[in-house]
Amino acid sequence: MAQAHALAQLLPADADRVLWVRESGLAPEVLEEYTDALDGARPGRWDVLELEGGEALKRWEAMPHLFDAFQSHGLTRSSLVLSCGGGALSDAVGLAAAMWKRGLRVAHMPTTTLAMVDAAWGGKTGINWRGSKNQLGTFTLPEFVHLDARWLVTLPDRERRAGLAEVAKHAMLHSHLGQTHLEDWPSWDPSLDALEIWTEKLEKSSQSKMAVVDADLHERGTRAQLNLGHTVGHAVEAHYAATAHPWLHGEAVALGLRFLLFQTKDSAPEACLFLDRWLATHVPLPNTPLTQWPDAESLWSHMAHDKKNVADQVMDVAWHGWGKAEWPVMLEKSAFEATWGRFVRSMEEAGTI
Ligand code: GLY
Repeated sequence: MAQAHALAQLLPADADRVLWVRESGLAPEVLEEYTDALDGARPGRWDVLELEGGEALKRWEAMPHLFDAFQSHGLTRSSLVLSCGGGALSDAVGLAAAMWKRGLRVAHMPTTTLAMVDAAWGGKTGINWRGSKNQLGTFTLPEFVHLDARWLVTLPDRERRAGLAEVAKHAMLHSHLGQTHLEDWPSWDPSLDALEIWTEKLEKSSQSKMAVVDADLHERGTRAQLNLGHTVGHAVEAHYAATAHPWLHGEAVALGLRFLLFQTKDSAPEACLFLDRWLATHVPLPNTPLTQWPDAESLWSHMAHDKKNVADQVMDVAWHGWGKAEWPVMLEKSAFEATWGRFVRSMEEAGTI
């Protein structure tokens, strides 16, 4: 009950209504606690909108339903929209809230590992447009983000693990987290004591992201380093999205990071070995048929459309050891193809497939 009570304390005192927009299928006993807490804090002044989560929400067609709900629940500029779900839900609900009446206040209570450590933080909202990701969106910081790892109990194992790729990324970017943060990562255990530790660890990881965001909210420069591993990761995700066995975002990012480590291994061998093993253990490649690795040509064509690119150059983030990211570095097609080929051979020799 303490965590639900803590959420109630965070609600802005002057919010005339709260609309709790939540994903279906969440843990009933946790929902009950938050329901009681909202009843206690805002009797008669809050409502629920329950939605199916997932990528389908990140479409323009999902917006009218959200706007209709905001209208029918009588939300005003003083109201608060509380999103509760994965990253797709907070992205879409965040965008709808940012547009309605020129901007409602929004807060996030993420329920997936990925959203807890990354998507809910830093104010990015967004939906896709004509097949390209996050083409429509805003930077709208939430009033607060409330973490409670108890939501992870009903999350499929594969999704819980996939989000840990961003935990590795934050540790790579911040030497104060570094290897220790990952070595101490708790094994999965749905007991309440263990979940409290998960909440603390995820919070710590997300705070390091916020240090980057605070310095460059609109991603004019340094925030781009949060894309570590994502240039190749997004390309892998896009490649498999078109197959019968799509990869989760975190799984693709884990492979993108492992490719980066492969490139860095001569300058920081110990760190790279440790991280490669950590990723292979905590975010295993999907257990789906993988007849062959994506070819470099296909990946490059996705990378060439990455929104970080400037004037047709593929831009990426390089890594030189704990806390040492370099942005921007330009990628060349021929060099990428050669390195990707060597990476795939090394994965095959290691018996990864
Ligand atoms: N997920 C990267 C960012 O928020 O900038």
